[in-house]
Amino acid sequence: MNSFSGLGARLLALLLLLGLGLGIFYLTQTPPSQPKDRGPSEDIPLFTSSRQCKSCHADLWEEWSKSHHAIAYTNPEVRKLSDDFRQKACQDCHLPRPIFETGLAKPPLPRQSRPDEGVDCLSCHMRPDGRILGMKARPRAGCKPLAEPRLGSVDLCKTCHNQHQTTDQWAASPFAKKGVTCNSCHMPEIPGKPGRRSHLVKGAHDLATLQSAARLGVGVSGNKILVEVENKGAGHNLPTEERHRAVDVVYRILPPGAKAKAWDPPFTRLYRFRQPYLGDPGPNTQLPSGQTWKGSFEIPKDLQQKGARVQVRLLYQLTPFKKDEEGALLYQWEKILP
Ligand code: HEC
Ligand code: HEC
Ligand code: HEC
Ligand code: HEC
Ligand code: HEC
Repeated sequence: MNSFSGLGARLLALLLLLGLGLGIFYLTQTPPSQPKDRGPSEDIPLFTSSRQCKSCHADLWEEWSKSHHAIAYTNPEVRKLSDDFRQKACQDCHLPRPIFETGLAKPPLPRQSRPDEGVDCLSCHMRPDGRILGMKARPRAGCKPLAEPRLGSVDLCKTCHNQHQTTDQWAASPFAKKGVTCNSCHMPEIPGKPGRRSHLVKGAHDLATLQSAARLGVGVSGNKILVEVENKGAGHNLPTEERHRAVDVVYRILPPGAKAKAWDPPFTRLYRFRQPYLGDPGPNTQLPSGQTWKGSFEIPKDLQQKGARVQVRLLYQLTPFKKDEEGALLYQWEKILP
């Protein structure tokens, strides 16, 4: 009995010691408490280029690389108009420092590095102390992002996208009242991947996006053709932003049996939606979100014949100085007169 209890006590002591040892081992091995709100340190990587995001966020990198944000500084159109960035002010939004440095909805500062990265991951996601900002904090992820709900706000886009009142136009639109924001349309959630938003930011260089903006309606009343254009799908004016964008309504009437090529004979312009350059004559004729423009034209006497063909087209022009056929053809309406 005695020897057994002696063995029991020694076993118990051994177990206790083991437990204590394990406890100490565990205490020294638990990871340090979550990083506080401080600048990058040994456990938080310092990011100096968007290329460093590529290995862990390959899909987002892929999308962003194809976006106009990625080419903001290398885009030949921008280089041409800015005199190869000899106009220094153009750099602010086309090669920006992280926008949280200067604050949202305020003009960003230009950076002098990584010209091939344009409006990059760091421009939108980096805090002045180098910490990465996301919608949620993820202390275990390699980049240890902190939560910053303003990342998903309209003010983020307004930082660069209100030079020509696109954000103000949105604020006055029916979409703003319904809570449909820039991101709902330009950074939509990827189906089947909740929380993943496309970084392609499709806009005026994408035909499907342009087509989703407008409805072309045409009717016949005697010898008059009635035309309607509705801005049904843009959360701002159509066209918006750059003053060189234009949307044109054009038409032509071909005599019965006439053989016509796609753009020959040429079309006549019925109307142009555009915000003119500063100093240009004429009012701003952009079509506000949710509104409908109405116009009409007469079929000339000599063409009021059975078999004459009437064509109406809606075109989007990236610059107003090009020929009709260089624009994007959004919609066409055609009728052979009875
Ligand atoms: C070592 C791998 C790694 C690197 C490098 C990395 N990340 Fe992450 N990041 C992750 C992981 C893992 C997650 C969590 C899973 C996810 O959301 O994809 C994450 C999540 C995020 C989030 C989302 C937070 C949220 O709202 O859910 C953002 C934003 C982010 N990273 C930005 C960046 C940026 C910008 C860079 C480059 C400067 C970068 N990351 C570099 C691994 C990394
Ligand atoms: C306040 C921010 C800001 C500044 C400053 C700025 N831009 Fe832009 N720029 C933008 C935004 C935002 C867009 C995208 C809007 C659009 O495409 O209509 C853009 C688009 C453009 C485009 C169209 C690119 C294309 O492929 O069609 C050109 C060209 C351009 N900018 C030239 C310039 C020039 C030249 C300057 C300097 C005189 C300048 N920008 C200064 C924000 C800015
Ligand atoms: C740091 C400045 C900046 C911020 C912030 C920014 N953009 Fe841009 N954005 C630009 C510039 C500059 C361009 C034009 C680049 C070019 O074409 O050369 C552009 C172009 C675009 C385009 C036009 C793409 C095309 O193909 O014509 C869309 C759409 C767009 N941005 C949406 C957004 C949205 C939505 C947000 C907010 C989530 C946002 N941007 C935030 C600077 C910015
Ligand atoms: C309801 C959907 C919707 C919302 C909301 C919306 N957009 Fe758009 N956006 C469009 C469509 C459609 C187009 C193409 C037609 C056009 O240019 O107006 C477009 C075009 C653009 C372009 C391209 C202009 C160019 O010249 O290349 C920019 C930049 C842009 N939007 C920025 C924004 C910003 C910033 C916001 C928020 C303040 C916003 N959009 C809100 C649908 C939307
Ligand atoms: C023009 C600003 C802008 C740029 C440039 C940008 N992002 Fe984002 N990113 C956002 C916004 C805004 C959100 C959150 C949208 C929301 O949820 O409302 C976001 C969300 C994310 C998320 C969370 C998950 C998801 O898919 O939405 C990750 C991860 C991320 N970005 C990584 C990156 C990386 C990596 C790059 C560069 C390759 C990059 N971002 C470039 C604005 C930007």
